[in-house]
Amino acid sequence: MDGQEQKERGIWGSKIAFILAATGSAIGLGNIWRFPTTASQNGGAVFVLVYILAVVFIGFTVMLAELTIGRHTQKNPVGAFNYIKPSSPWKLIGYMGIITGVGILSYYSVVAGWAIGYLVKTGSGAFKGEITGQITSRIFTEFSSDPLQVLIYLMVILGITTYIISRGVRKGIERWTKVLMPILFLLIIFLAIRALTLPHAGEGLSFYLKPDFSKFSGKVVLFALGQAFFSLSLGMGTIITYGSYLSKSDNLVTSAGWVSFADTLIALLAGLIIFPTLAFSGQPGDVGGVGLVFEIFPIIFSQIPGGYIFGILFFALLIVAALTSTISLLEVPVAYFVDERNWPRQKAAIVIGSLAFFVGVPSALSWGGMEFFTKINVFSIFDTIFGNIALAVGALFICLFLGYAWGAKKAIQEIFSGNPRFRIRPLWTFSVKFLTPIAIIIILIFIKTIVSG
Ligand code: TRP
Repeated sequence: MDGQEQKERGIWGSKIAFILAATGSAIGLGNIWRFPTTASQNGGAVFVLVYILAVVFIGFTVMLAELTIGRHTQKNPVGAFNYIKPSSPWKLIGYMGIITGVGILSYYSVVAGWAIGYLVKTGSGAFKGEITGQITSRIFTEFSSDPLQVLIYLMVILGITTYIISRGVRKGIERWTKVLMPILFLLIIFLAIRALTLPHAGEGLSFYLKPDFSKFSGKVVLFALGQAFFSLSLGMGTIITYGSYLSKSDNLVTSAGWVSFADTLIALLAGLIIFPTLAFSGQPGDVGGVGLVFEIFPIIFSQIPGGYIFGILFFALLIVAALTSTISLLEVPVAYFVDERNWPRQKAAIVIGSLAFFVGVPSALSWGGMEFFTKINVFSIFDTIFGNIALAVGALFICLFLGYAWGAKKAIQEIFSGNPRFRIRPLWTFSVKFLTPIAIIIILIFIKTIVSG
């Protein structure tokens, strides 16, 4: 690889930079917005339990698989499959990942745009004085159904994302993540402590943490599994792409472990804020609609001295967390066009970024902005197809590819580099070859009954 190519492609400045960037990709609206909402709609604690099992046994497995493929090939997803199995249909997984990336980016950016709206609202004092659940839910409905605002914010998010990506991996991603993620983490801990000390917090906690097994169902498993893939950024090649920038001396196993752990911790903490605050505001745990967190956070800020500042800080950091995820979503298709089609980075970023905007318009107008899109609820359809099913299918094929087409033995050689012992090797091999594929196949077979039931 000559110097020029090296420069176009980029490489992480350090191991910690990779961990931060991958964690930045993983942590985002998936943790703070999607996790509590999905938990709320799927029985609370039962969901949380299945989710944790899904992360440990399945998410971690797939993350290590993606990292291994990425570092071995040093390529984008399409290039990676093609490199290991040239001229085979396996590269279709890569193409599917690219399409899924644009699909997720489109509606994910809508929610990220809402966070900008909420930063502006908080800053202009919309949540001053006595704040109740009724007030915040009215504010959310009015806001999310205003076509002009949501479209402008959607454009802003995608504009920033495009700009960062067009300037390259290292300069773009590294710089953002390093400073701001730790601040978000501290703020979330602080908010969780406040939420836990509110009156009635215990009722919210018991919905969130005390499993009611009568609420267990196939749907809980489907959504927990889908949420695990979504939250860990798995199933579409993001982690393959990020892993492709790792060096041979990095330990893939501990990297996968750290990212999964940090991501899960933030999601669980977000729940510790949402459910006690819901109970405090007199609502049951299972009311979670798409606006749940936007309706709940302003309530907790109103219960903190200086809450105005905390509110601004929170939404600003939420935007940053979302941006480190949107850039990872855009990076996948861009890396493909740069590596495989020789497009200049900037052109690739602008073309795909604009495409994501147009694809995102129906989702943005799905909350009252336009009757037609609201009726079919394009947003939810996108979230189910791209955010759940496509990721699960992607993860399935990634495991099958690694376990059978490439061969677990060869993959293990790659993992040995940077981790010569790899003690959990038998467990991981079992999960890649059997446990994870079988679990996903079962879920997919029953998907029709699950979704309609
Ligand atoms: N994991 C991110 C979040 O939780 C979203 C995300 C970024 C993602 N890249 C992804 C989801 C790739 C699936 C696949 O907010």
